[in-house]
Amino acid sequence: MNKLNALMASAAIAMTGFGTGEALADEFRLGLITPPTHVWTLAAEDFGAALAEASDNAHSVTVFPARQLGNEAEMLQQLQTGALDMAFMTVAEVSNRAVEFGAFYTPYLATDIEHAAALLRSDTATAMLDTLPGTVGVVGLGFGSAGMRQILTNGGVTDAAGLDGQKIRITPFQANLDFYNAIGAAPTPMPLPAVFDALANGQVDGIDMDAELIWALNYYEHADTMIETNHMMFPMVALVSGRVWAGLSEEDHAMIAELMGAAVDSTLDTYVERDGPWLEQIRGTGITYIEAGPEFFGDAIAEWNGIWEERAGEALANLRAAAAELE
Ligand code: BEZ
Repeated sequence: MNKLNALMASAAIAMTGFGTGEALADEFRLGLITPPTHVWTLAAEDFGAALAEASDNAHSVTVFPARQLGNEAEMLQQLQTGALDMAFMTVAEVSNRAVEFGAFYTPYLATDIEHAAALLRSDTATAMLDTLPGTVGVVGLGFGSAGMRQILTNGGVTDAAGLDGQKIRITPFQANLDFYNAIGAAPTPMPLPAVFDALANGQVDGIDMDAELIWALNYYEHADTMIETNHMMFPMVALVSGRVWAGLSEEDHAMIAELMGAAVDSTLDTYVERDGPWLEQIRGTGITYIEAGPEFFGDAIAEWNGIWEERAGEALANLRAAAAELE
């Protein structure tokens, strides 16, 4: 977020009555649901170190990974009340409160991981953050990512018809629910920390997931087929509580915006570099490996587009135009 946007965010928060004028925190708590070794968690740690250094240790950040402070819905609520200072969070969760953010999950909006990174860095995407203080009561300081979405499943699936009726774990948000309903699957919303057990004990047939976690958390050991679909990008957003932000000085705003923005932005490069190698490692396990594009999903994409053109038409059109320019 640039200085002007940061000032506008402060104004929007003040207008919603959040401002107190006093400093509320300089020992910040930052929450995430990802495990300690995950790319997001490491970026959060880097941000904390950079902020401590830049502020001559006036500010510190304690990172709470692995849902220690609650799931994303709970953390977003804590950000709104000021009980939590900061979070790196899926845009999926934000889209549960600000529906236009669901447009980021337009199937095949980004053609690949590089395209997704460029789109998340675009002015169009960044401008969407400016609405968050007014709509959700949080300040968005930049986008990161967790790569592209893939399908890992059981039952010898070879085409989309094979997913019919399958219980597929999804991240809990509407855009994904609509996608799997359109496919004819039985989408099963479930937060990340619950996924391993659900897949391992057969509570779900398959999962919607990214390459990093399929590989790093050994999800592939509990499935027979990996379908590399790259069907959606999976953005993350750096958030600061609107209440906490309102209590900070302009100097702190600039410092936090720059360092937090840089930390989440670095995850875009990490996934560009590592998504391909993670996919190759999964392929190398000998699991049945299918590469699929939009045609795999038949009419489901058109059905999803129809729903979301009604629900978030302007954001969707803007993101599509930005994506087309970046191709
Ligand atoms: C998921 O819900 O699949 C997810 C959440 C955060 C990071 C990566 C994946």
